[in-house]
Amino acid sequence: MCGIVGYVGREQAAPILLEGLSRLEYRGYDSAGVCVFDGGKLQVAKTKGRLKSLYDLIDGGKAIPGTVGIGHTRWATHGAPSDENSHPHMADSGKIAVVHNGIIENYLELKDYLQKQGKKFHSETDTEVVANLIEHFYDGGCTFRQAVQRAVARVEGSYALGVLCRDCPDTVIGVKKDSPLIFGYGQGCNYIASDVPAILKYTRDVVYLNDGDLLEMTADRVDFYNVHGEPLEKDTEHITWELSAAEKGGYAHFMLKEIHEQPKAVRDTIHPRIRDGRVVLDDIQLPAAYLAQLKRIYIVACGSAYYVGVHGKYIIENLCRVPVEPVLASEFRYADPVLDGTTLVVIISQSGETADTLAALREAKRRGARVLAVVNVVGSSIAKAADDVLYTWAGPEIAVATTKAFSTQLAVMYLLALYIAQELHTLPEDRRRELLEALVRLPEQLEEILSPESIARIQYFASQYFNNRDVFFIGRNIDSATCLEGSLKLKEIAYIHSEAYPAGELKHGPISLIENGTLVVAVATNPALFDKTMSNVKEVSARGADVLGITIQGFEDAIHKTMDSAIFVPRTEVLFQPSMSVLPLQTFAYYVALMRGCDVDKPRNLAKSVTVE
Ligand code: AGP
Ligand code: GLU
Repeated sequence: MCGIVGYVGREQAAPILLEGLSRLEYRGYDSAGVCVFDGGKLQVAKTKGRLKSLYDLIDGGKAIPGTVGIGHTRWATHGAPSDENSHPHMADSGKIAVVHNGIIENYLELKDYLQKQGKKFHSETDTEVVANLIEHFYDGGCTFRQAVQRAVARVEGSYALGVLCRDCPDTVIGVKKDSPLIFGYGQGCNYIASDVPAILKYTRDVVYLNDGDLLEMTADRVDFYNVHGEPLEKDTEHITWELSAAEKGGYAHFMLKEIHEQPKAVRDTIHPRIRDGRVVLDDIQLPAAYLAQLKRIYIVACGSAYYVGVHGKYIIENLCRVPVEPVLASEFRYADPVLDGTTLVVIISQSGETADTLAALREAKRRGARVLAVVNVVGSSIAKAADDVLYTWAGPEIAVATTKAFSTQLAVMYLLALYIAQELHTLPEDRRRELLEALVRLPEQLEEILSPESIARIQYFASQYFNNRDVFFIGRNIDSATCLEGSLKLKEIAYIHSEAYPAGELKHGPISLIENGTLVVAVATNPALFDKTMSNVKEVSARGADVLGITIQGFEDAIHKTMDSAIFVPRTEVLFQPSMSVLPLQTFAYYVALMRGCDVDKPRNLAKSVTVE
C-alpha cells in the first residue's frame, strides 16, 4: 500500500520519479513502475521486484524522454506481484494511466459494468478498474478533471491516485481518500507524492491533501478542488524535518508509526468484507456444505500469529460451536496430527514466509486437510501453497515486533467466525447483526485508544515500571490470550523477563515468584469474570506485587477498589475486546523499551521473517 510520485516540469521526469520512489522504499513494496508522457504517447515501464530492476530497465530513467510522469511502488493487495499487475495501469484504449495506493472495495461490480461496456482488462488488480472508469467518463464527453471526479464518486474504498491523460500532456491529476497524498511546490515544476521523503530533495513546501481533495497541476500552476468540484484554498506547510524522521512520518520509530496505523489497517481489513449486513469473503471457497461436515479446525502459526490462533479458539468455538485447536507450527508436524477432509487447517502468517509455518502447511495438505491461510504479503510462499487465502490488509510492516499485522489477523478471526456462523446458522439473526455492527465500529474505537491523552497515560505507567525485572500478565478467558501477546511484546523489545498466565492458574505454582515490586499486569475486560480476576489481583497484591490493570470504560470505580493504576479501553463485545486491550499493551512495551534504551525497531537476536526451521 505503497508509494506514489508524480512530476511535471522542464527536467526529464523519469530520473526524478526513480529518485522519489527510492525515498519511499522504506514503506516496503514488491514491484515498481513509471509512466511518462513521451511526445505523442504515454510510455509505461514497470517490473516486479526491486527498484533496481526498474532502474536497469530504463537506464536510470535516461531511456524514457518526457517531462511529465507518475511513478509507483506497489504492495500487492489484489493479484500477485507480477509485471502485469505492477502500476501504472493504462485504460483499455490507452488514453489514461493511473497509479493507485489503496484498495477499491467495489472493483468487481465496476469491472463487470465496464466489461459490459466493452473494456478489456489485462491485470488482476482493482486499480485497472479506476483507469478504465476514468477513460469511460472521458470518452463520454467529460474533461480530464471531470472524468476523474466522476470516477472517484463511483469508487468505494481507499485511494490515492496519480493520473495522466494522453490528450493533456502537461497535466497531472492527484486525488485521495483514506490513503496519503501530498503536493509539493517546485520552481517551474510541481510534485505529488505519498509522503514527504519522496520530494524533500526538491522542495520543503508542501500541501497535505484531505479526503476528497483533488488537484490538477502543470509545471507553473496548481489548482485544488473539493469533492463537488469547487475550487479550494489550501495551506502550505514548510517541512523542517530531516529525511530520516520524515521516513517514519514524524514518529520516532516504525513500531510507533505502525501502532498508530492500526485503526486504518483494521478498517481496510474489515470494511470491504461486510456488505448488506453479511460477511462476504469473495476471496475464499468455503461453502456451507463443506463447513457443515467439519469436525475440527486447527489454527497453526508461530509467535504472535500463534497467539492470534489462541484468540481464534475462543472466538470461533463461541460463535460457531466447532472445536478449534491452536498449535505452534514448529510442533505441528511432529505431533502426528489427526487430519482428513473433515479438518480445516487455518495457517496465520504476516510474512507468508515463516519456514515452520510453511512446513506445517505442507504437512496438513499431505494429510488431506483443506488449508486456509491468513497472510499479509500477497504472493508469498504460504499464500501460494494454501487452498484459500484471506489477506490481512495491514500494509507493509517494517518493525520486527508485529503490531498492526497482529490486529488485522485478529480482525480476520472475527470475520471468519462470523462467516462460518452465518453459513451454518449457529447464531440468532439479531445477535449476528449485533456482532457485525460492533465489528464495524472497532476501528473508530481503536482511534480513541490512540488519542494523545490516552497515550500520555500509558507513557506515565511505562515511566513508573520500566525498571521492573519480572512482569506477569494475567487475565481470564480470552483476556488470557491477549496477555500472551502483551508479554511477548515486552520480552521482544524491552528485554524484560515476563510471563503470561490465565489468572486462576497463578495460585497453582507461579505465585511463588511474586515478591515486593514484581509488576503484574491484569487484563480484565469481561464483566462476568471481573470479580474473579480481582480476587486474583488481591492475591498478588497481598504478596507485594505492583498491579497495573487494563479494563473497560465504566469500570473505573470497580477497579480502583482493588488497584491504583489502570488503563481504560472502550467497551465492545467481549470477544472483540482483545483488539482494544492489545493496543495499550503494545504501547506500554514500546515506551518501556524506549526508556530502557533498547533498539525498538530491530531488537537483538530477532528477524522479521524467520525462514529457517
Ligand atoms: C512478532 O512480534 C514476532 N516478531 C514473531 O513472533 C512473529 O509473529 C512470528 O515469527 C511469526 O511470523 P509470521 O507472522 O511472519 O509468520
Ligand atoms: N490495490 C492495488 C493493487 O493491488 C494497490 C496496491 C498499493 O497500494 O500498492 O495493485
